[in-house]
Amino acid sequence: MPEQLSFKVMNLFPPFTEEAKSTDQKRRVQGGVCTTDITLSAYMGDNAEVFPKVLDLHVPKGAKIADVTYGLGVFWRNISPRDYKVITSDLKTGVDCRSLPYRAASLDCVVLDPPYMEGLYRRDNGHLAGSGSHSPFRRAYSNGQETATGPKWHDAVLDMYFKAGAEAHRVLKENAVLIVKCQDEVSANTQRLTHVEIINHYTQLGFHAKDLFVVVRPNNPCITRLKQQVHARKNHSYFLVFVKTSSPRSVGHHPIQNRKQVVRKRQL
Ligand SMILES: C[S@@+](CC[C@H](N)C(=O)[O-])C[C@H]1O[C@@H](n2cnc3c(N)ncnc32)[C@H](O)[C@@H]1O
Repeated sequence: MPEQLSFKVMNLFPPFTEEAKSTDQKRRVQGGVCTTDITLSAYMGDNAEVFPKVLDLHVPKGAKIADVTYGLGVFWRNISPRDYKVITSDLKTGVDCRSLPYRAASLDCVVLDPPYMEGLYRRDNGHLAGSGSHSPFRRAYSNGQETATGPKWHDAVLDMYFKAGAEAHRVLKENAVLIVKCQDEVSANTQRLTHVEIINHYTQLGFHAKDLFVVVRPNNPCITRLKQQVHARKNHSYFLVFVKTSSPRSVGHHPIQNRKQVVRKRQL
């Protein structure tokens, strides 16, 4: 063994002295329960299956939650109405998520899921994505109205997320949670990583990106005419979890009820 290497190895495995032994005895023993029942960062499934896992991990029961882009309420299909105080709104019911009718610092959680693709923000209603046989898609994902002003194309998507994020920041309490659903997209042949763009902007707004969930579609995309594939077809989307905080270091130190409790099942 070369001399230098043998020196390094010696340092990695120091001799076992009495002093080392007493340090070893004080070594922290990992607490908790051995379990495989843990929340994962990626799931194959739909929003109704994954959203309850996001809430369960990050939002304490009894929290006051505003879903400001409620749509068809798919997110809530597997959640008991007894678990949270949920206030729902949508542009379709006359409430714009960029201007909410709630007091500043009054909510424990905001859920935001605006139209995530540029095809749903068009100056002309006739050019909106989801025409003809795809109309259920348009009904579920947009309010069906044209976007008359503001930025165009993918920048229109970001503009919506950015303004709604700022409004969520206003109505959330300190340390409260913002859950954002989004999907990346290729716009004008350019890869736009929407989730990165949102995280970067929200950090400047005063949010800490605490967690990220990937939702993978279980079904295959429909057949398309393709001369040459340039980008991988998106079959995943995200739930981003933000915490409104002036101190990102404090995010791990919420009161215990904000954490998922792993409990030992009673042995029968
Ligand atoms: C992707 S869908 C939401 C689906 C919903 N999360 C669900 O579980 O059914 C987007 C929704 O955002 C709504 N929307 C679009 N612009 C909005 C705005 N400025 N303010 C509030 N809601 C808006 C649309 O009407 C549509 O219902």
